[in-house]
Amino acid sequence: MRMYDIIKKKRDGGALSEQEIHFFVDGYVRGEIPDYQASALLMAIYYQGMDLDETRALTFAVRDSGVKLDFSGVDGLRVDKHSTGGVGDKTSLVVAPIVASLGVKVAKMSGRGLGHTGGTIDKLEAIPGFQTDLSEEEFISIVNEIGVAIVGQSKELAPADKKLYALRDVTATVDCTPLIVSSIMGKKLAADDDCIVLDVKTGSGAFAKTVEESVNLAKIMVDIGKSAGKKMLALITDMDRPLGANIGNSLEVIEAIDTLKGNGPKDFAEVCVVLATNMLYLAGKGSMEECEAMVKQVISDGTALNTLAKMVKAQHGDDSVIYNPELFERAKFSCEVRAEKSGYITKVDAEGYGTASLMLGAGRNTKEDKIDYSAGIILLKKTGDKVEKGEVIAKMYANDEARFSGAVARFNLSTEINDNPPAERPLIFERVE
Ligand code: URA
Repeated sequence: MRMYDIIKKKRDGGALSEQEIHFFVDGYVRGEIPDYQASALLMAIYYQGMDLDETRALTFAVRDSGVKLDFSGVDGLRVDKHSTGGVGDKTSLVVAPIVASLGVKVAKMSGRGLGHTGGTIDKLEAIPGFQTDLSEEEFISIVNEIGVAIVGQSKELAPADKKLYALRDVTATVDCTPLIVSSIMGKKLAADDDCIVLDVKTGSGAFAKTVEESVNLAKIMVDIGKSAGKKMLALITDMDRPLGANIGNSLEVIEAIDTLKGNGPKDFAEVCVVLATNMLYLAGKGSMEECEAMVKQVISDGTALNTLAKMVKAQHGDDSVIYNPELFERAKFSCEVRAEKSGYITKVDAEGYGTASLMLGAGRNTKEDKIDYSAGIILLKKTGDKVEKGEVIAKMYANDEARFSGAVARFNLSTEINDNPPAERPLIFERVE
């Protein structure tokens, strides 16, 4: 078999066999296939696509490229939730403690920020002392004791995805359905969960920009997960505007804490309740109505917030910030963003908002960049709100004042203000079972 022939076959629209896909993935992980040939194949896949059999074979090849985790030491059913990535998406910090408070185990492996999107691991590391790199024994013992632990992806898990993702990031091949499916599901299937709820984001801040694309992505992931023996369910949720009001690591942890206290922004709180309800439902805890009532109960009685605090303490973090979020270190500088004209915010480019936050220091431009955990944006007005020219619509935070001008310009470019209000857009578009 020759890599040249595989590239040519896909370039000309052919369907790759399981053997050809394995030859590529295994050879690339071993360093026998160079980046330039892998890049050529990725671009051919980008343009020609892959059918379901090819996508499944690629997913399984990614899963099988490294170690598989064994969570058999965890007592009880394990459920995971995975988002395809968005701006202001801090749902894991809320739903994982809720579900764990109700007796379903969450042994979660999360990622760091990618491009304009944030990552749960970066957010958790904004909590002083919090460790996302635990031994397997410690991880499992925390899950058994508290019900939830969240760690970063180990180097040995799905190494093909690590290499391929880095290559996709620099070859403009990220937003491609079979590549997204194999990346996400390859990692999820290498972990040892019984049930997976996928939060497939749709809109300007997501990798899949249209509802149609997102539903297609969800159906393929659900299908592949089921064929690997997992209980699967996907929700298509809105990412045409950032979720909640806060973007940036410690700002998002603070918003997650507020939400666990019952004081979160309406859109974010609603998505969290729906996701947690579906996780419990998939884990067989009751009807949708019963699960929703349980979710609301552990928020209102403070149990879920206490579970988050216990997880933080068990993972060596300072749990006092959970009860006193004002203890989070604040950025040295802030800057107000004012409406450029009067009218309604009719549309925002959520990706642009994510990029503005990144420009303030909340994300990385290179793999080596250090994150400024206190940097970010608080949105005071969102899509659909009426604004007056000069009114403050957002506040930005950074430790370097020079970062504000570029971030404000990017933010303004991403905000459309017009005379008439926009049409209502749902928060949850569809449920794929
Ligand atoms: N998240 C992933 O892990 N991979 C993708 O390709 C997109 C989002």
